[in-house]
Amino acid sequence: MALSDMLMYWAIGIAVIQAAYCQENFIKVKCDPENQGVYSQDAVLNCKVVSIKKDIQIMKMMWCKVEADICVGKTMLTFEDGKWSAEDARFSSGALEWNEKELNVSLLVQKTQVSDQGSYRFMISTDTGYDKGNTYLRVTAPYSVPVISSLPGINIEDSMPVTLTCNASGGYPPGQIHWFDQLDSNWTKSSALRTIPTQDGRFNLSSVFTTTASSSMALYKCVVVNDKMDKQRAEYQLAIGPGKQEGTKNTTAITAVFIVVGALASGILILYIHRRRSRGNTWIQAQQEEKEEHEKTMEEGEATG
Ligand SMILES: *[C@@H]1O[C@H](CO)[C@@H](O)[C@H](O)[C@H]1NC(C)=O
Ligand SMILES: *[C@@H]1O[C@H](CO)[C@@H](O)[C@H](O)[C@H]1NC(C)=O
Ligand SMILES: *[C@@H]1O[C@H](CO)[C@@H](O)[C@H](O)[C@H]1NC(C)=O
Ligand SMILES: *[C@@H]1O[C@H](CO)[C@@H](O)[C@H](O)[C@H]1NC(C)=O
Repeated sequence: MALSDMLMYWAIGIAVIQAAYCQENFIKVKCDPENQGVYSQDAVLNCKVVSIKKDIQIMKMMWCKVEADICVGKTMLTFEDGKWSAEDARFSSGALEWNEKELNVSLLVQKTQVSDQGSYRFMISTDTGYDKGNTYLRVTAPYSVPVISSLPGINIEDSMPVTLTCNASGGYPPGQIHWFDQLDSNWTKSSALRTIPTQDGRFNLSSVFTTTASSSMALYKCVVVNDKMDKQRAEYQLAIGPGKQEGTKNTTAITAVFIVVGALASGILILYIHRRRSRGNTWIQAQQEEKEEHEKTMEEGEATG
């Protein structure tokens, strides 16, 4: 065969494949980059399937947890033959929300655990294409109101060394405990923090601070800082002088900052298709590889499920 013929066949082959793929991949999965979950409460992970064709026929959908870009452990949820099946009763699918050009899908997590934190993948195969998207579940647990105790607890005299302990429990991620006196001088550097893991992946914090008793400086505060979103505090008045009872005075303040994940940019799909179309050979190869990889992941997901 002449070289020119070979080139011609090759060019035709490319054109056919390109036509097939252009027709096939009409969908794109876009997931919220990050979703927030609170320990022991329910969490929702959101993805969106954008299609430029109406009435797409869903063949298969799948949610799994991913590590190093592959599905690990059990595939939590699989949608096939028109129904969902779950491996773990804590995971279920939110209602599918359709309109002309998009399908909202969600993974519902009940009684969120610290171990649920991580990356999740949503995969979909339809008659007009396939795609997948990743989203991250960040888990937080608020610390308990801290409790301060002192040693000795009563009959403290001026100039006596006093050890204060501030305990807070059941938080995530690991937090800090800062110490201040009544003039808000920062004594944190003179304290020692112990971070004690609990069985469910949360942490207990215990901070010990030794000071010298002074009747003119008898009020101390500890502040539990949990990644800037959550602050809890307690105050303690040293019981200086004979006959004085242990005087604890706890106050709390919680500042929660809710990060609102903004809506997704609408131009992304158009840009995506435009770029794919204008890319030629490398694009086709990439598509082929991506398709094979997708099918492989789907199979692996099933195998590990
Ligand atoms: C999908 O979810 C977004 C918010 O995440 C919402 O604005 C949009 O209306 C939803 N679409 C459908 C079809 O329900
Ligand atoms: C604070 O926590 C430490 C470490 O768990 C514990 O040994 C100590 O008894 C606790 N103190 C109080 C007052 O609960
Ligand atoms: C107090 O000191 C600690 C440790 O040096 C520091 O991390 C913290 O930001 C300080 N807090 C304030 C309010 O200055
Ligand atoms: C953490 O603190 C809680 C409440 O004080 C306590 O019940 C639990 O035993 C502590 N866990 C560990 C591992 O110290």
